[in-house]
Amino acid sequence: MKKIGIIFGMESTFPPALVDKINSFHDPDVQAEVAVIGEVRMAEPSPYHVIIDRISHDIPFYRGYLKNAALSGSIIINNPFWWSADDKFFNFALGTKLGVAIPKTVLLPHKHHPPGTTDSSMRNLEYPLPWESIFDYVGFPAFLKPFDGGGWKDVYKVGSPGEFFHAYDQTRDLCMTLQTAVNFKEYFRCYCVGQQMVHIMQYDPSLPFHERYVKNPAPVDPKLLERVERDCLTLCRALGYDLNTVEFACEDGIPYAIDFMNPAPDADIHSVGQANFDWIVNQVAELAMEKARKHTGMVTEYRWSALLGGPSTGSKNGQARQISQEVHG
Ligand SMILES: Nc1ncnc2c1ncn2[C@@H]1O[C@H](COP(=O)(O)OP(=O)(O)OP(=O)(O)O)[C@@H](O)[C@H]1O
Ligand SMILES: [Mg+2]
Repeated sequence: MKKIGIIFGMESTFPPALVDKINSFHDPDVQAEVAVIGEVRMAEPSPYHVIIDRISHDIPFYRGYLKNAALSGSIIINNPFWWSADDKFFNFALGTKLGVAIPKTVLLPHKHHPPGTTDSSMRNLEYPLPWESIFDYVGFPAFLKPFDGGGWKDVYKVGSPGEFFHAYDQTRDLCMTLQTAVNFKEYFRCYCVGQQMVHIMQYDPSLPFHERYVKNPAPVDPKLLERVERDCLTLCRALGYDLNTVEFACEDGIPYAIDFMNPAPDADIHSVGQANFDWIVNQVAELAMEKARKHTGMVTEYRWSALLGGPSTGSKNGQARQISQEVHG
């Protein structure tokens, strides 16, 4: 019997739906449950052959549990080592190298010293920073946002150097990025599952939270959707994420990837809506089943240099690709 365990936090709709979906396949050799974690001994295997992780970014204890489990052959969705190493600024740099359109982005030092550090911890930093050159490169309007974050926290749109410095002053000890604002017409959020399946959803960030996933979207140029799908696969394969959301803001027909480090993507039925919810529950259930059936107990290769080198965007393992075209309405 192969066991699939799900670790999650405050969310209430996706995890139980996933457990029910997997168990509804009635595979006598695979069973899913909400993971129960107690004493965690070093180098001891987890009882779960596959673990779907929805929360370890907020709870370091779970991240530690998952790395220990991986060492004994548990398959984790998503790779806890890479997730720990990754950040959004690196993502932008990698996307650029892979030929995906990324708005110009710079990394900025913390406005205030991180706890336990002082001026002398920052002696390598050029002072003052070459702000004029930075503003020339990025331009205005621009987005000031954390290099590692989520939930629109500490995200500022700034239209001038004055507005920038006012916002920057409020960013405490966070490491921030400054990125050219895309004057977008279309905006997409895309689920990518198993580095194979892409589901493109039209999204309107200007609407209240529960209305942002557009219900009856206007048709979109199929060429734009093709590129969005291709770029989405390129990014998720390079980063090795089996579950991710990639966000694109499109200007003049060019999809700019602006956020693609979402390894525990929003999947709440009340926010994404029934149709998107059904899609993501089905796909993640299928993926977890496939991984459970293929589980051998051998430790997976957790080095990522091959991934980051930019794998081909063709179909992997000869599997059929499927693109959801619900975005056409
Ligand atoms: N370069 C940009 N051009 C245009 N809009 C942007 C840009 N960067 C961010 N935004 C806007 O700000 C919002 C939040 O930015 P971002 O997705 O980077 O932050 P986040 O904290 O990851 O948010 P979430 O958790 O919703 O994904 C985006 O949904 C988008 O509306
Ligand atoms: Mg985002």
